Amino acid sequence: MSAATKKIDPTHNQALFDEIKVGDITVKNRVFMAPLTRARSTNPGHKQTPLHALYYAQRAGAGLIVSEATQISQQGQGYAWTPGIFTDEQVESWKVVNDAVHNEGGHIFCQLWHVGAISHNVFQPDNQSPVSSSAWTPEGEAFVGDYHEDGPMVPHPESRELTKDEIKAIIEDYKHAAQCAKDAGFDGVEFHAANGYLIDQFMRDSVNKRTDEYGGSIENRLRLLNEVVDALTEILPASRIGVRLSPMGGPGGSKDSDPEALYTAATKALSGRGLAYLHVIRPNNHTGDGSDLEFGNDLSKKMRNIFDGVFVANGEFSAQEACEWIENDYADAVAFGRDFIANPDLPERFARNAKLNDPDSDTFYGGKDKGYTDYPSLVKTDDEL
Ligand SMILES: Cc1cc2nc3c(=O)[nH]c(=O)nc-3n(C[C@H](O)[C@H](O)[C@H](O)COP(=O)(O)O)c2cc1C
Repeated sequence: MSAATKKIDPTHNQALFDEIKVGDITVKNRVFMAPLTRARSTNPGHKQTPLHALYYAQRAGAGLIVSEATQISQQGQGYAWTPGIFTDEQVESWKVVNDAVHNEGGHIFCQLWHVGAISHNVFQPDNQSPVSSSAWTPEGEAFVGDYHEDGPMVPHPESRELTKDEIKAIIEDYKHAAQCAKDAGFDGVEFHAANGYLIDQFMRDSVNKRTDEYGGSIENRLRLLNEVVDALTEILPASRIGVRLSPMGGPGGSKDSDPEALYTAATKALSGRGLAYLHVIRPNNHTGDGSDLEFGNDLSKKMRNIFDGVFVANGEFSAQEACEWIENDYADAVAFGRDFIANPDLPERFARNAKLNDPDSDTFYGGKDKGYTDYPSLVKTDDEL
């Protein structure tokens, strides 16, 4: 039996190892793998490869894996070498990943991604400008890899404001991508409405200056979020759809003048729909926006109390703090990002209180197996194998 399928009998951090129902799927533990862009789809069609299948299968001990952010259309891409989920070839390539995860007893959702303005013309159809709620020039630089002669990092260009017809077309792209994810054998999808990408660019008032029904009031700024969730439920049962929100942070420097009002309203809007889960990145040091952890914890707990389904917390958690959050009912599960990069057998390590490997940030994005599939698992004794 493989390490991932073997039932873990924890001697430490027991609260992480109760089964939990996520939508209509029962998963084996509450140690979820956060979505992690690794920029290794260097092939021309932005497909997954056997190396990706190995990476995800190594991590199938997670209660739930959320895939790396995966663009729903060419327009939705904003970084070099990220995978897509909108062509037949991409669907076929993800099938290999999903079979590998399922063979190891794991579950995997596909994170559906549209970056909006956090992009560059080099990724856009016909070299057009990236799109957003309003014309906006994000702070910082786009990671364009070898797509640009000045690469790999070049300033973000100004985005252009989407027309209402174009917004409708993007909603159709989400539906198409959800169908592709279903065809590829994912267990569900996570709608990426976090980290300053397209949906946040509609939600946050530092970017959204629209005067139509998609701008102005919080209700209007949440319209696209709601419309995409409605559209996704035409393809998949709500029980197979999770949503990710992050009240602060993300590339480009977008902000809202009242994050608490905005994100509690978003949580209310998502509640009562039978969604698989709500996944919230608490504002923390990693978001790099200077927000303090106390505010982040408070807001995350408020959102937990509003949401009527499974609540997944994320952001700089240790195993011990994750247990405290679950025991205190601040969350039902906790997603781990960087620790899962460096520790393919993270749940097993938490169960034994074993030392963790350190992640190497130099190999987060791009490259091949180094820093990807070569992090060691714990050495097993003969009778554990
Ligand atoms: C290398 C890297 C790639 C990431 N890619 C994504 C992504 O594709 N989608 C997403 O929603 N968040 C992404 N994140 C954010 C993580 O999912 C997570 O929120 C963050 O790392 C904080 O969790 P941690 O403290 O457990 O690492 C990424 C973070 C890192 C470090």
